[in-house]
Amino acid sequence: MRKVPLFQYALDHGDSSSQVLSVVEAGPRPVLELVNVTKTYPTQPPMQALTGVNLRVDEGELLAIVGPSGSGKTTLLHLIGTLDRPTTGIVRITGLDVADMSDRQLAALRATRIGFIFQQFFLAEHATVLENVANGLLYAGVNASEREERAVDALSRVGLAMRTRARPTQLSGGERQRVAIARALVGRPAIILADEPTGNLDSSNGVTILALLNELHQEGATIIVITHDRDIAASLPRQVTMLDGRVSSDLSPDSLAPLESGAE
Ligand SMILES: Nc1ncnc2c1ncn2[C@@H]1O[C@H](COP(=O)(O)OP(=O)(O)OP(=O)(O)O)[C@@H](O)[C@H]1O
Ligand SMILES: [Mg+2]
Repeated sequence: MRKVPLFQYALDHGDSSSQVLSVVEAGPRPVLELVNVTKTYPTQPPMQALTGVNLRVDEGELLAIVGPSGSGKTTLLHLIGTLDRPTTGIVRITGLDVADMSDRQLAALRATRIGFIFQQFFLAEHATVLENVANGLLYAGVNASEREERAVDALSRVGLAMRTRARPTQLSGGERQRVAIARALVGRPAIILADEPTGNLDSSNGVTILALLNELHQEGATIIVITHDRDIAASLPRQVTMLDGRVSSDLSPDSLAPLESGAE
């Protein structure tokens, strides 16, 4: 079938082009779309870790992916982070289908559109806090002085502007995770993927990190938190539950009963 540009279609059909375009542009933009995604590991016998996952995440969402051990969370994280490809089905990041991309293009997509936060922080201990964050821009085609400027900015956002010259070993666990969050933020990614971000922290540092993720969400960031902690999941605006390689429930404020009028 021949593709007709929208405005041409509108003219041909006597519609006002702005009307047609406004339909296309209306509503939140998806940053992540998974359509009937499966993943089978080539073990003997083969292990089907994902059996058909459908998931859409829009710009500006903050959600948890939760589920018991073995339900497929890490497998899903690898597909969302483009660290692995699906066996069947479609994975789109900001509208781009990963199946159409070479490994090199995927690496570039990862570097520019996805920010990772891990349970183990993964900071370079010989480097300063500032260098750790600025190095998050090494593959983004940004010159050294702008890398530094943006790193200072990202560190200010996580409340560590005063510690730029420190080494990670001189910081508390919660501070290290804030450095890792700054490193994830510095490339201005379309999606921030956090894998058990509070897993190595005591509960008060965990609360601080969650508050920070909520604050970034208020500022417009799109954040996906993978966790096995039901309390963390329950504190976030949307909870996607995995079970046996598929999404067993997907709860967001829209699906909850409205608050009684007068309730504060
Ligand atoms: N590389 C692999 N090769 C073969 N099977 C795998 C591989 N990685 C994971 N699996 C299997 O796929 C299933 C899903 O694993 P996955 O790691 O995604 O679960 P998870 O939800 O992250 O669990 P946990 O909470 O324990 O981290 C499990 O049965 C696991 O044994
Ligand atoms: Mg896992």
